Amino acid sequence: MRVVLLGTAAGGGVPQWDCACGPCAKARAGELPARTQDCLAVSGDGANWWLLNASPDIRAQITTTPELAPGPGPRDTPVRGVLLTDAEVDHALGLLTLRGAPGLRVHAPATVLHALAGTRAALDRYAEWTWRQVEPEQAFPLAGGLVVTAFPISGKRPRYAAGSPVEGHWVVAYRLFDPRTGGIVLYAPCLADWPPGFDDLVAEADVVLLDGTFHAPAEMGAATGRGGGQSAMGHLPITRSLPELRRHPRVRRVYTHLNNTNPVLDPASAEHAELREAGVEVLPDGACLDV
Ligand code: MLT
Ligand code: MN
Ligand code: ZN
Repeated sequence: MRVVLLGTAAGGGVPQWDCACGPCAKARAGELPARTQDCLAVSGDGANWWLLNASPDIRAQITTTPELAPGPGPRDTPVRGVLLTDAEVDHALGLLTLRGAPGLRVHAPATVLHALAGTRAALDRYAEWTWRQVEPEQAFPLAGGLVVTAFPISGKRPRYAAGSPVEGHWVVAYRLFDPRTGGIVLYAPCLADWPPGFDDLVAEADVVLLDGTFHAPAEMGAATGRGGGQSAMGHLPITRSLPELRRHPRVRRVYTHLNNTNPVLDPASAEHAELREAGVEVLPDGACLDV
């Protein structure tokens, strides 16, 4: 399978429009690469492509990715649909950009489909889409030959859904399996802790794309003067996930969903050097992996 990292930043991107923290200032000055919001494209056959999350930057992400160019007919697209890991704004807002393309399929957990009810009702006015509920640990095929399985990760819900009566798994990880190559990719951009059984998922994967939102537990407050919410955001900091990843040197390990306050954005930082020493990667937007 081919995986394209369309975007590698957490909500807001790098730089974020209203942020003058260290990394945002450096990105604005061209001293660090800019990053768009977390989103992947995957394909088993190079002809049928699936988006994992639909970021607010999806238009620019698609128009700069040759694999996703429309054709051969004037309104044909190789994009078959979207798989959502959660209902966060930075992972779902791009659905509205895709409005009007007929026949897209969106796979998501029941919680996420419920949270997006209003968005879905609006989108269904533009084109007929299929909305499919993803059941935990039940594999299903995607057009193009990949087989996907969702694994429950946490009950962390988006702020706008705080009052929702729906209980259950608000965040999942996806395991993508290519029966032709035997390759396995694990995509987990929102990891609140290291859940039971997660080690086994990492161990069997060839590539893991993991939540690298924050490097340290109180990083956002230190960088922006607005601490408050970091611990409630449901993102295990790298200081806690890196020791877990060190147990899996055979696996290609990549941090994504990087917040703009994260010092690993700077290749010259000590924090980035520590990742290099552990063999864990931070890749730029547009990076391609063949698995
Ligand atoms: C998150 O990843 O925790 C959310 O995207 C935060 C947000 O943008 O509200
Ligand atoms: Mn996010
Ligand atoms: Zn910033």
